[in-house]
Amino acid sequence: MGRLTDQSVYITGGAGGLGLGIVRRFVAEGARCVVLDRAAPAADVVAELGDKVVFCEGDVREAAAHQRAVEVALVRFGKLDCFIGNAGIWDFNRSLRSMPAPDLAKGFEEIFGINVLGYLLGARAAVDALADSGGAMIFTLSNAASLSNGGGPLYTASKHAGLGLVRQLAYELAPTIRVNAVAPGAILTGLSGPASLGLESTTISSLGFEDVAAQIVPVGRIPSIEDYVPAYVFLAARDEIVPATGMVLNYDGGLGVRGFLSANGGCQ
Ligand SMILES: NC(=O)c1ccc[n+]([C@@H]2O[C@H](COP(=O)([O-])OP(=O)(O)OC[C@H]3O[C@@H](n4cnc5c(N)ncnc54)[C@H](O)[C@@H]3O)[C@@H](O)[C@H]2O)c1
Repeated sequence: MGRLTDQSVYITGGAGGLGLGIVRRFVAEGARCVVLDRAAPAADVVAELGDKVVFCEGDVREAAAHQRAVEVALVRFGKLDCFIGNAGIWDFNRSLRSMPAPDLAKGFEEIFGINVLGYLLGARAAVDALADSGGAMIFTLSNAASLSNGGGPLYTASKHAGLGLVRQLAYELAPTIRVNAVAPGAILTGLSGPASLGLESTTISSLGFEDVAAQIVPVGRIPSIEDYVPAYVFLAARDEIVPATGMVLNYDGGLGVRGFLSANGGCQ
């Protein structure tokens, strides 16, 4: 018996990166998942997960894509226990001065569209089914939800907005649906940036973070995807979690107690 036996879970951004790690762990804990992602999963991932996971292709900025995914969960698994808003993009620390105003506007629309509207639309599509099951919502935030310099102004503001979403939904949906968040620190994934800023093919893994990790992260290395996923199991499990709603687990390797190395941004 896993901690999530028979749970039906809807997650965005689960075809790769942290989201796929969550899906793998949730399946190992007995859950079945529906994934919405604009990228198709690798063939070996589909074969590995079999009928425990349904992959739907679509964009999190479209309400209909979320509605279809929730419908799939209800038809295939008979209920919905958990919604995980996770699909996101990063701004690669683009500073205010590095972006001409038109870029700033386009980047805002794309980053907030995916990181904030995508979470809201997923929550909207899932809320009735979660009310029926007394389920949970979990959102992937970031150290950038509470600290500066985990991104530029666009990403940092989008993750701070995610924090507001968690608090407001936890209030609105109590006592029926628990709403919590995980705020990871750096992870070596395929996290990419907005096409409107020409960053759609750049990934966080290409930046060489692992070389400086021991100096930046108090735990002395960049945690792996597998290191992060237990936080999601903890928040989704129904057995020992009664007091938690509106909570953010700062699962960031200790960045929150030390912050980043530079004293200021140098007004770049
Ligand atoms: N990688 C890090 O260092 C890091 C740190 C803190 C927080 N996070 C957060 O973790 C979450 C997952 O990121 P990741 O690192 O696994 O990146 P990733 O790129 O490996 O995974 C994100 C997934 O979301 C999907 N996606 C992106 N835009 C989408 C859209 N418009 N519609 C549907 N799917 C879309 C991608 O195809 C991808 O499969 C994000 O919310 C990110 O902000 C990442």
